[in-house]
Amino acid sequence: MKKHTQNIAFFASGNGSNAQNIVEYFKDRPEFTPSLILTNKADAYVIQRAESLAIPCITFSASELRNTNRILEILESHAIDFIVLAGFLLRVPSNIIQAFPNKIINIHPALLPKFGGKGMYGDHVHKAVKEAQEKETGITIHYVNEHYDEGQIIFQEKVPVLPTDSPDDIAEKVHALEYEHFPKVIDRLLFLV
Ligand code: GRF
Repeated sequence: MKKHTQNIAFFASGNGSNAQNIVEYFKDRPEFTPSLILTNKADAYVIQRAESLAIPCITFSASELRNTNRILEILESHAIDFIVLAGFLLRVPSNIIQAFPNKIINIHPALLPKFGGKGMYGDHVHKAVKEAQEKETGITIHYVNEHYDEGQIIFQEKVPVLPTDSPDDIAEKVHALEYEHFPKVIDRLLFLV
């Protein structure tokens, strides 16, 4: 039986539009508490979003994440139940993965296992899709394990790529899919299963 209220932590390295979109989707749902936003970039736009959403935001360095228990302790002290990676560029270390088995998910802006792995993020993905002359791309939402983009796939959705699409056009289509599906998949995982 799932606990009724779920305390959620978001990890984001950049813009944070997915994190904001998810928070807004759940805004009238008291069982979903966006407890924390964590970022490894001191100048990430997600910090401003956190402020305007009135969600506590914590900044940390890559080495703190890798070599200390600070982040794990923060997650535990906020009684975090579930972690959403939304544009987070660092590998999640095993101390956190082991403490949150099947409780960490990521969204990848392509159809894994294609166009995944280290260095495959943001525009790099959409340029690679264009260069490979793919006829379709999409999103993958998956559980997170110790390897980039390799955890069990939860959900995928496709969108056609036209020969005339630029990488920016592809990015726009993929973002639209992310905004539509990421909150719903989280809703299903947390409350409907
Ligand atoms: C998204 O495209 C997501 O799939 C990828 O990073 C991007 C983050 O965008 N993992 P934003 O920071 O949520 O705007």
